[in-house]
Amino acid sequence: MCMPSGPGARVRGKPMIRIDQLIKTYGSVKALDGVDLHVPAGQLFAYLGPNGAGKTTTIRILTGLTKLGGGRASLNGHDIEKDALAAKRQCGLVPQYINLDSELTVYENLDIHGRLFDMKPAVREAGINEMLTYVELRDRSDSLVKQLSGGMKRRVMVARALMHSPRILFLDEPTVGLDANIRRRIWALIKKIQQDGTTIFLTTHYIEEAEFLADRVAFLDNGRIVAVDAPLKLMAGLGKWAIDWLTDNGMQTSYFPSREAARESAAVRENGFTLRRVNLEDAFLSLTGKKVH
Ligand SMILES: Nc1ncnc2c1ncn2[C@@H]1O[C@H](COP(=O)(O)OP(=O)(O)OP(=O)(O)O)[C@@H](O)[C@H]1O
Ligand SMILES: [Mg+2]
Repeated sequence: MCMPSGPGARVRGKPMIRIDQLIKTYGSVKALDGVDLHVPAGQLFAYLGPNGAGKTTTIRILTGLTKLGGGRASLNGHDIEKDALAAKRQCGLVPQYINLDSELTVYENLDIHGRLFDMKPAVREAGINEMLTYVELRDRSDSLVKQLSGGMKRRVMVARALMHSPRILFLDEPTVGLDANIRRRIWALIKKIQQDGTTIFLTTHYIEEAEFLADRVAFLDNGRIVAVDAPLKLMAGLGKWAIDWLTDNGMQTSYFPSREAARESAAVRENGFTLRRVNLEDAFLSLTGKKVH
């Protein structure tokens, strides 16, 4: 794997991912409506937004799977249009939907990827074994993909995405549908990949996943960025504790600076309530009036 700058590196000079005024339309749908983002090397960046916000569209454009409609973008200084091949080599992708060949073995799936990236046979074999060890699946090398669990398939997709030593890893909902234990195992893997120097661009609907993993978060809504900052900064100003309660008009939420203040307020309510810590979902809700998932 490549080891560029360490984790937490900040922008000096060119950002690792640069997106300027990105636009994409599908018929009358404006999937992306002028997105600007700069992600520095080594950062773990979470890209959050409700269904249909434009997250996958952004990733598909950056990884060369879909053409942009306007604006420009570059990966590690390589323009995704003018320098498409070099830009593609900078990144690995774990797509939103499992797209492994289920009738082939784990090894064969990775081997095909290595061939697509023109890796020589000996380099390819070493890369496959290294990556399967990395994601702790070396012993499943000869298993058919259809015999693997969902969590194992996600880890094979991570191994495949890392085989050509990309500087940037795009993870589009990498833990969707996985149980809490496996999700945490994948979080540890994602942290390890970042610590080894890879810049990570992650989408997720699991708020706690973004809070745990991300150095910086962007909120996307209707193809537009509504906020970009560190998770704690996005949540600052709302208070630290929240209570939720049900009314005839749906769920209501109030925010408080302390647990005691929240409990006092909850005590005077007749209906049931939930007392909890403020999270990124609240930050998104306060900015857009809607939930992130
Ligand atoms: N191939 C396509 N053809 C037509 N419309 C599309 C296509 N791909 C995406 N869209 C539309 O673009 C918008 C953004 O979709 P996108 O898949 O990027 O959202 P998302 O943020 O990834 O959502 P989710 O959280 O559900 O994965 C949606 O309105 C979607 O219907
Ligand atoms: Mg998506």
